[in-house]
Amino acid sequence: MDKLIIKGCANLSGEISIKGSKNSALPIMVSALLSEDTLKLRNIPKLADIENMSKLLRNYGSIIKSKSDSIEINCKKIINKDADYDIVRKMRASILILGPLLSRFGKAKISLPGGCAIGTRPIDIHLDGLKKLGANFKVENGYVVGQVNNQLIGSHIKLSFPSVGATENIMMAAVKAKGKTIIENAAKEPEIIDLANCLNKMGANIKITKKGTINIIGVKKLHKANHNIMSDRIVAGTFIIAAVMLNKKFEVKDVDTKHIEALISALKNMGANIKLKKNSIKIMPTNELNGIKIQTSPHPGFPTDLQAQMMALMSLANGKSQIKENIFENRFMHVPELNRLGAKIRVKKDVAFISGSRNFKGAQVMASDLRASVSLVLAALCAEGESEINRVYHLDRGYEKIENTLGKLGPSIKREKN
Ligand code: UD1
Repeated sequence: MDKLIIKGCANLSGEISIKGSKNSALPIMVSALLSEDTLKLRNIPKLADIENMSKLLRNYGSIIKSKSDSIEINCKKIINKDADYDIVRKMRASILILGPLLSRFGKAKISLPGGCAIGTRPIDIHLDGLKKLGANFKVENGYVVGQVNNQLIGSHIKLSFPSVGATENIMMAAVKAKGKTIIENAAKEPEIIDLANCLNKMGANIKITKKGTINIIGVKKLHKANHNIMSDRIVAGTFIIAAVMLNKKFEVKDVDTKHIEALISALKNMGANIKLKKNSIKIMPTNELNGIKIQTSPHPGFPTDLQAQMMALMSLANGKSQIKENIFENRFMHVPELNRLGAKIRVKKDVAFISGSRNFKGAQVMASDLRASVSLVLAALCAEGESEINRVYHLDRGYEKIENTLGKLGPSIKREKN
């Protein structure tokens, strides 16, 4: 298992260009299962999760060719088989193949994704929505087995919570269902819009209202298409927070500023010196950062995927801060590790109380999940002395070789084998 050795009091200068979004690329890769023609995607990030998704799709007989940041997926000759535990357990997004397989074969058998470090993460909302489209489910030996009697039939579905994955799964299942599907209380994350745009390029008929209701008229067939994956708003947000923490002049390029409005507003409220340009954000040093209270919520609220990074920043700001986590029930795994680095954070149920004006000090820490790991990297960059971050495979799921991407902009980050 790899670990990162990070020198503190790091420098950071220049600019970084943000690559394609993992959370957008994963469902879009899955959407290729809906068509017999080739789907060509560009701006695909080089991440472990993308490799895992390719492996899962290849397991079904998909032919995948990749070249630099492009990928071509052809699912003409796929076979229906079980999605086994070994792949699904590594990546919860595997559950997204359920909708497309039911649409294409009328049946599917997928290992239950189970819980993970950040919570139980059930799939009831996915199943309830797919049931409304005419699928039946049973759970057998840890697998969810889905069956459609004849064909999926369009329906009016109101989600009990705007789950991102459930919205994507139901949307993909509905694209070729008979008649009209309405998804109310659907997730409004930019990745949902990106998936809808790609499906429409493939011939689907999806319209999203201003309020976020998704209207889908089923079509018989999808065809070949080319699509550029949107840039990763979470990676962009992480680098913006890094620059604010290190108090350096820095530019984050190729980001849609509308996708990270909640973060920008929180940072400005803290006193960060940020200038928005078209598709880029400039961070300048500031004299003072002050604590604030935030809570995570579905888009356009503050994203849970930037909560851990924000907590690292709040530890440096003056005064007290608070974060209420509303999306996942156990997403404070980074707290004890940030405390090992010198933070002073107390958790009571779903609220973290952060005492500011802390000085991080280098330490050995353990990464617990993807975004938790990067919050430790940010704290280590600001610390006095050297830090060692273990279990960085979590980090590799969502950040392209951070020792290279960040490393070439000033910080000293070395990867070593344990
Ligand atoms: C996606 C993102 C993840 C992000 C999350 C919330 C991908 C690959 N991952 O995850 O990075 O943190 O959105 O923005 O895009 N829930 C249920 N039942 C369900 C489905 C979800 O109770 O059937 C709960 C979950 O346990 C969680 C909450 O709803 O507490 C949000 O989950 P969801 O929006 O589905 O997140 P993911 O799609 O798994």
